[in-house]
Amino acid sequence: CGIVGYTGPREAYPIVLKGLKRLEYRGYDSAGVALINHSLKVYKKKGKVADLEETLIGQDVHGHIGIGHTRWATHGEPNDRNAHPHLSQSGEIAMIHNGIIENYAQIKQDLLAKGYTFKSDTDTEVLLNFIDDIKSKNNCSLEEAVRIALRRIVGAYCILVVHKDDPETIIAARKGSPLVIGIGKGEHFLASDASPIIEYTKEVVYVNDYEIAIVRPDELILKNLGNEKQTPFITKLDMDLTAIEKGGYDHFMLKEIFEQPRTIYDCLRGRLDVENGKITMSGIQQYAEQIVNAGRIIIIACGTSWHAGLVAEYVIEELCRIPVEVEYASEFRYRNPIINKGDVIIAISQSGETADTLVAIEKAKEQGAIILGIVNAVGSSIARLSHAGAYTHSGPEIGVASTKAFTGQLAVLNMVALLLAAHKGTIDRDRYLLLCKELTAIPEKAEAILKLDAEIKAIAEKYKDASNALFLGRGYNFPVALEGALKLKEISYIHAEGYPAAEMKHGPIALVDDQLPVVFVATKDSYHEKVVSNIQEIKARKGKVIAIITEGDTVIPGLADDVIVLPAADEIVAPMLSVIPLQLLSYHVGVAKGYDVDKPRNLAKSVTVE
Ligand code: G6P
Repeated sequence: CGIVGYTGPREAYPIVLKGLKRLEYRGYDSAGVALINHSLKVYKKKGKVADLEETLIGQDVHGHIGIGHTRWATHGEPNDRNAHPHLSQSGEIAMIHNGIIENYAQIKQDLLAKGYTFKSDTDTEVLLNFIDDIKSKNNCSLEEAVRIALRRIVGAYCILVVHKDDPETIIAARKGSPLVIGIGKGEHFLASDASPIIEYTKEVVYVNDYEIAIVRPDELILKNLGNEKQTPFITKLDMDLTAIEKGGYDHFMLKEIFEQPRTIYDCLRGRLDVENGKITMSGIQQYAEQIVNAGRIIIIACGTSWHAGLVAEYVIEELCRIPVEVEYASEFRYRNPIINKGDVIIAISQSGETADTLVAIEKAKEQGAIILGIVNAVGSSIARLSHAGAYTHSGPEIGVASTKAFTGQLAVLNMVALLLAAHKGTIDRDRYLLLCKELTAIPEKAEAILKLDAEIKAIAEKYKDASNALFLGRGYNFPVALEGALKLKEISYIHAEGYPAAEMKHGPIALVDDQLPVVFVATKDSYHEKVVSNIQEIKARKGKVIAIITEGDTVIPGLADDVIVLPAADEIVAPMLSVIPLQLLSYHVGVAKGYDVDKPRNLAKSVTVE
């Protein structure tokens, strides 16, 4: 979910509304604002921020303090009633909340016994009335009531709370769900990430877990839950507005796909010195000895980042001869995994805030593992929790379906693998130098692939009415097939499965008929001949084959219905290229079907709940 707050001399509503639009990629099931202008007003609406905006035309939206929320539903279906902000039973306090209160049921029972009634099905309203009850019982300040309540709370939260009698103060707190405070001149901005803030100020404070912020126009006080003052640590944002605007593209997703030559270049820049065959990644180098001596590496991630982890497994095992396991964070955190002191965990995350990944690494860290974070969002929770790591430097990714972050992750992971292999001595110098060169050549080759956009769009239009699709690949391209299927599902709602091309014989082949599009990621690599046989197996059953191939391939064009021809690249780096046509394919299918590709239904970009 996305959270915004403002307190200062300006009108709060336009700032909060614009902020919500910038954060909408975090969830868009419903949206709402609370404003104080003589009285406390709460407006909320099912649907996107634009729907809220429309209903508020002609309403009194004045006030110099405001909080706003855009929701990705957890407790309670997305409707007006369950939308945030919520209003306490007394009508005095309004609150927005990101996260999940795990022990809400018990608290709710206690409150029901005291005569509280609930207007929504949310855990948020339970926490809010809990605060309301504490405040009236103890006759204390809102800050005090929030503090007492949070000491009893189990779960994750980022909350903003306002009281009708205090038109200056926002009380904010976090545990496991991000919160940034922008410091202006006589004003403060609050948000779940920096994107709503950067047009007003570059000076921000990242609030830590178990901290409460008391925010007024010219005052920011941070305290821990024990009521001790904490010193706010001010960071300068290294991001500008163009990075979070569409810049002439129809959608963020398309912009982000097209940014890849530059973002991959930015990721390699300053790290990969191809002339001297040197890779500099200080965070990783610091732990290089421990990593190469580790019994194994465990990669933890979710979604697209998990796919990057699968590619890395193949690359690291091949080049470094270190055993690698790749785990879904959500499974790892609950399944009592074996973690030994000195085990190395690589956490991969675009947002750096995914709740499951965050908790999984917290758990591994407690057991003595070394945590390396491969993260895109600078200053995010996972980046801060890691012992060391490397940023992907892909810039803000707004489209919900991850694109440039994935290729950035692969670029970083390739460099990590090369660095470790050189350190361990498991790669010969020639191969090492060749792969460095191959990496440097990726941005230019990506540029060439983007020129195929019109061709890919035509293929997308041809297959847009399919109800199922298969994505197949082997070796390094197997995770790319998974990623291609995920992209299509996310953006076009077409059911798609990714599979290792050979494994397809053990089930999915039953789906093949003359209606089924089968996308093969079949670039030239050591698995190529085997993939050609798999294409033949599909053709023998009349499936429609769309093949991603390498220039110079003379066999597959004679077999496939459609081909997309890519520049040649070494198989280790090839996934960074072969994924691009799949991103474009799903983008164009989604657009052709008339869907909102930047905000596909039911999804959220940053899943800060488990
Ligand atoms: C969500 C997003 C995906 C993303 C996944 C993991 O599901 O919609 O695009 O891959 O979370 O997110 P992370 O930020 O940890 O990479």
